[in-house]
Amino acid sequence: MVSTAAPGVDLVAEIERLKRSLKAVILAHYYQEGDIQDVADHVGDSLALAQAAAKTTADVIVFCGVHFMAETAKLLNPGKTVLLPDLEAGCSLSDRCPPDRFKAFLAQHPGAFVVTYVNSSAAVKALSDVICTSSNADRIVARAPADRPIVFAPDQHLGRWVQQRTGRKDMVMWPGSCMVHEIFSEKRLVQLKVEHPEAEVVAHPECEERVLAHADYVGSTKGILDYVLNSPKQQFIVVTEAGILHQMQKRAPHKTFIPAPPDNGCACNECPHMKLNTLEKLYLCMRDGRPKLELPPGLAAAAAVPLRRMLEWS
Ligand code: 13P
Ligand code: SF4
Repeated sequence: MVSTAAPGVDLVAEIERLKRSLKAVILAHYYQEGDIQDVADHVGDSLALAQAAAKTTADVIVFCGVHFMAETAKLLNPGKTVLLPDLEAGCSLSDRCPPDRFKAFLAQHPGAFVVTYVNSSAAVKALSDVICTSSNADRIVARAPADRPIVFAPDQHLGRWVQQRTGRKDMVMWPGSCMVHEIFSEKRLVQLKVEHPEAEVVAHPECEERVLAHADYVGSTKGILDYVLNSPKQQFIVVTEAGILHQMQKRAPHKTFIPAPPDNGCACNECPHMKLNTLEKLYLCMRDGRPKLELPPGLAAAAAVPLRRMLEWS
């Protein structure tokens, strides 16, 4: 039976009360709904949230994001309870890179140094040498041993962007992509640029190359946010998941942010996995102590090694 909140319950007040009684910290990704971002203790990109999870002294981590992000928090805190509002909140990048197929792919590239994007399962991380996020992927690849070829997984677009920035030639990409970022429409983006000639275009490196070619700035969600806050320009076309607009509007209410549209007729582009989480589900997971992220200890120990290496290298 689907659990629901009692009628009339003040979700925000209850979440605040539960936060204190559980000694919990709420971590939320920029792609979460605005009401979730507003009750979170930390809102950030994948790297900032992993760093916050590594440092927290809270007893319970409530992770508002997708499964691999909560899993990352658990890998860094095997002894703590990690709750997430919806266990089904997956990620197309992670789902399209199953560990058995990844293992077979690695067998075709013996001796390669394996750099894996954090948008992956614990089992895929356990097969990797180091993890990266979109904030640090270029710096991580630059530190990879120069005498070994690199396998980069699972996002081919991020891999290609990193390759262009670092000049590393010997990189083989796992052919994965994000179901959200791969469907931005170049044609509609160009139309928007014509309608708003003063606007700067900011984009996430998970987008296709032909879309990134129109961007004034490419970076992680945090990088994009910092860029628009610091830029003297007043208008921005934002080519990433539309949840980021909440922080932009909150922190720079005098500026205009225009979401870039996908090629499916919608006005903006939302991640269906991220949007499975709601304020009510956040309240319920804290009230009921579930869903809880659990990992087999052996797998957790193996996957934590490349993840901790990333934090050391960051
Ligand atoms: P960031 O690391 O930039 O927050 O990206 C996470 C993500 O899932 C992008 O789709
Ligand atoms: Fe995964 Fe793409 Fe959603 Fe990010 S936006 S969580 S990469 S499906």
